[in-house]
Amino acid sequence: MCGIVGVIGNRNATDILMQGLEKLEYRGYDSAGIFVTNEAGKSKLVKSVGRIEDLRDKLGIDVSGTAGIGHTRWATHGKPSVENAHPHTSASERFVLVHNGVIENFREIQAEYLSTDDFKGQTDTEIAVHLIGKFVEEDGLSVLEAFKKALSIIEGSYAFALMDTENPDMIYVAKNKSPLLIGLGEGYNMVCSDAMAMIRETSEFMEIHDKELVLVTKDNIAITDYQGNPINRASYTAELDLSDIGKGTYPFYMLKEIDEQPTVMRKLITTYANEDGSMKVAPEIVKAVQEADRIYVIAAGTSYNAGFGAKMMLEALTQTPVELGVASEWGYGMPLLSKKPFFIFLSQSGETADSRQVLVKVNELGLPSLTVTNVPGSTLSREATYTMLIGAGPEIAVASTKAYTGQIATLAFLAKAVGEADGLQAAYDFDLVKELSLVAQSIEATLSEKEMIAELVKKLLLETRNAFYIGRKQDYFVSMEASLKLKEISYVQCEGFAAGELKHGTISLIEKGVPVIALLSDPTVAAHTRGNIMEVVARGASTIVIAEESVSKPEDDIIVSNVHPYLSAISMVIPTQIIAYETSMQRGLDVDKPRNLAKAVTVE
Ligand code: AGP
Ligand code: GLU
Repeated sequence: MCGIVGVIGNRNATDILMQGLEKLEYRGYDSAGIFVTNEAGKSKLVKSVGRIEDLRDKLGIDVSGTAGIGHTRWATHGKPSVENAHPHTSASERFVLVHNGVIENFREIQAEYLSTDDFKGQTDTEIAVHLIGKFVEEDGLSVLEAFKKALSIIEGSYAFALMDTENPDMIYVAKNKSPLLIGLGEGYNMVCSDAMAMIRETSEFMEIHDKELVLVTKDNIAITDYQGNPINRASYTAELDLSDIGKGTYPFYMLKEIDEQPTVMRKLITTYANEDGSMKVAPEIVKAVQEADRIYVIAAGTSYNAGFGAKMMLEALTQTPVELGVASEWGYGMPLLSKKPFFIFLSQSGETADSRQVLVKVNELGLPSLTVTNVPGSTLSREATYTMLIGAGPEIAVASTKAYTGQIATLAFLAKAVGEADGLQAAYDFDLVKELSLVAQSIEATLSEKEMIAELVKKLLLETRNAFYIGRKQDYFVSMEASLKLKEISYVQCEGFAAGELKHGTISLIEKGVPVIALLSDPTVAAHTRGNIMEVVARGASTIVIAEESVSKPEDDIIVSNVHPYLSAISMVIPTQIIAYETSMQRGLDVDKPRNLAKAVTVE
């Protein structure tokens, strides 16, 4: 969601900013802008609504520069428009600011300090840059003092990059809750909300923590806290590979990422299992889970659904109750916790503000936590006690696929390691390396059915406004994820339902032609779900039946090869990912960048 990139030094600032913004596109945005300036003080500010391509068209050819800041906006305050796009300027236009996040007290600031100012747009950000301008131009503070004073007043989440057109040899940076990183180069330095946008230029990064202020010049990085105390921090080299972020010959990243899942499963085996099949999970993580009397899994969206997909397995293998928490709810009202809780944060991006809000509370309570994420060095990874990486490679499509399956598989290694450490027979009996290899094969088999699935979509999902996924037990959890996927990229209103619950109200929505997609993988409940399929067929529904081989009938539409029941949430979700992809693609929609959505949701 929303992105910042800034650069200063001996490079063509416009090129770097534009390339950086393109790399940030996958996070989701509605408008964009850049400010560039050179040492002679010549500068240009360009903003546009829509794609980075549109911004490029507006730029013209005469813009280069030695320093600048750029932004992709995901509107929170004020509609997407050129006026509301960043960078924003102070009243005199001397100061230029980009911001990610939400300033919670912007109305109060406006009333108290800026009641006579005129504003070009409606954003909270514009208030911040006017405030800084006022402190310099009316109150006579230095730029640094003015920035600090503004930071002491501003409440909320922010990553700021500020420039002074009169002294364009410095970028003033500060952050609270929103992600921001420094990138270090030879004769130039960068600032960015996502390492991905800088890896073409550098692999050397430096973290910025909340409530730190950073002065970035072409050959120096000076970090202080808000009181001005200097902070020394070592840089690190990021293990990111530029080739990972290309989509090769694929029309969309999502399809590439769906196809990568067998590889992700096999890679996880080498990451988390030794050649003899024993687990390679850090002993301190295993010990911390062993000591817990309850595991709390906190996540949002698809990651939340992945938590459900792993719950049964986690409980069976560790004999510890697992409770799921929607991050956006738990941040503001933690339920009564058990005596020895252990928190697991599931997050593809590692940057989800809602999840982080809970982690901050967990840290305040001094409780142990583990982040399972796809992004090394991400905020949730840095701030949790422990991290397990999914290692699925960058996930660029907004709709998460390989991170969901990768999260469940990663938790399988943790669950087995804990169960074995506890001497539980169920854990020894579960041959995870073999079972996950079978999962990889099952995924491959389903992927080879894409054309057949595309035909089903053409027949049943191209015209519909709404649809249902139904299933019981594990398949109910997969239904939740399947319906989220369909909703987010095809805009079909879809509900994931416990098959047995349908008749308690929702079945009133079933009428002629409504697509109902049923998932069946569990022999103990398959017959009941088949009964529910008959109920909706009797009321006119058009059905697609996705069944695991073990419970399948010849007339079923999609057959998924058998896997261990602990891992069925992985194999059963694959056809539903293809259904969502095909529905979006066949409807001519932007599969990778669905409307209104962002890849990393960094606002609460
Ligand atoms: C997934 O398809 C969604 N785009 C979304 O629900 C996502 O899973 C959610 O925002 C959580 O993100 P995270 O895994 O990066 O924390
Ligand atoms: N709150 C700011 C706005 O609406 C920043 C949004 C963002 O993070 O992109 O402009």
